[in-house]
Amino acid sequence: MKVDVLLGLQWGDEGKGKIVDVLTPEYDVIARFQGGPNAGHTLEFNEHKYILRSIPSGIFQGGKMNIIGNGVVIDPLLFRQEAEALAAEGHDLTKRLSVSKKAHLILPTHRLLDAAYEAAKGESKIGTTGKGIGPAYTDKVSRNGLRVGDVLHDFENKYRLIRAKHETILQSLDFAYDMNEAEAGWFEALEYLKKFNLIDSEHVINQLLKEGKSVLAEGAQGTMLDIDFGSYPYVTSSNTICAGCCTGLGVAPHKIGEVYGIFKAYCTRVGSGPFPTELSDETGETICRAGHEFGSVTGRKRRCGWIDLVALRYAILINGVTKLIMMKSDVLDTFPTIKACVAYSIKGKETTEFPYETDAAIEPLYVELPGWETPMSHMQSEDEFPEEFNAYLAFLEEELEIPVGIVSVGPDREQTIVRYTDGSASGN
Ligand code: GDP
Ligand code: IMO
Ligand code: MG
Repeated sequence: MKVDVLLGLQWGDEGKGKIVDVLTPEYDVIARFQGGPNAGHTLEFNEHKYILRSIPSGIFQGGKMNIIGNGVVIDPLLFRQEAEALAAEGHDLTKRLSVSKKAHLILPTHRLLDAAYEAAKGESKIGTTGKGIGPAYTDKVSRNGLRVGDVLHDFENKYRLIRAKHETILQSLDFAYDMNEAEAGWFEALEYLKKFNLIDSEHVINQLLKEGKSVLAEGAQGTMLDIDFGSYPYVTSSNTICAGCCTGLGVAPHKIGEVYGIFKAYCTRVGSGPFPTELSDETGETICRAGHEFGSVTGRKRRCGWIDLVALRYAILINGVTKLIMMKSDVLDTFPTIKACVAYSIKGKETTEFPYETDAAIEPLYVELPGWETPMSHMQSEDEFPEEFNAYLAFLEEELEIPVGIVSVGPDREQTIVRYTDGSASGN
């Protein structure tokens, strides 16, 4: 069997959590491959709402095996909070959730360093989630990091050494901190983490594939936040793209099957950085209100704009997307006209290629399509789609050259319409 990958094609928050949950019944195993508690994946069903940060979104359907892969960074404190909140609601994950021993730990000082680096950048700050993501991945790459597997051997000594290095940096940045406060509960949380299956996930996953088991890999963030291909430096610190699944789970490229690319019917971005189709006017505000565009974890207001097909084509190319999934279609229900950016004009020159420089010099070139002005959130099948919505879908499919297999019309698991079911997509 192969690993199907589900990932975001924009700047994150596309609705990955919801769709992983919808697709879970079709798979034996669900595995997160990168990112950490910077993610906030929202799932809604049976009038319950859950926001998952480090735990994969496959935990609610059918007792499936869930894995946190080696490419993920884990803060034991936040992991404990998340797992205990789920346990309190009757979802004991200790038997069903495994964690790679090679996943790196986010230390208390990584959180402090994240804050210190942001403060030092002043106006040009990235607007990180403040969870210590960048510093934890930096230590991984510079070969100073601590991994989940390290908790089993001589952890205290290794920890003390790295903490001392971090303190030197914090002091050089004149950053005020209280180490006792930062470390409070962290070591207890590390003990809590040991209750889970700490595994060599690359062996486990490859063995499961050999036995004919199906695996769905869950991405975090989005392609435009990728460390290599996003709008650097306004990006996260991991490879959010499909290749990140190979390194983040230890699966070979030829073992990748479907690549599900998720996008919103418009665009959002939270934090700083270029956003060519951003709307700083009443239309942007209307999208924000209708889509409840506030960060699931940080509560920060998300910047909103029209769909950007230049960026989407780029994301499809980099990921090798085989199926598209369009989210939040219902948010555009009231607009008489919908715009889609098909090209950029940069210093008077038109291009459809995503450029190196993604600063203010970009002028998006739009086509206008008639809106459907019909509520969609109650719809159960594509037979009910308004004519103008079908025209919008047909336009996107022609522009993007990939079919849109699933359309989401609301946050609930049930508000999911499958247009075609070749392969493993499922829904209502
Ligand atoms: P993720 O990080 O990609 O999992 O996405 P988030 O959970 O951060 O953000 C998506 C938000 O949109 C959440 O609040 C979801 O409940 C909500 N959502 C998902 N799909 C839809 C949809 O089709 N329509 C509407 N209105 N909301 C949706
Ligand atoms: P999900 O998985 C949206 C953004 C931050 C910031 C930049 C770097 O829910 O889609 P970081 O804390 O990673 O160093 O912040 O990336 N960011 C996200 N934006 N959704 C996310 O995750 C994000 N994770 C990080 O806002 O601009
Ligand atoms: Mg999110």
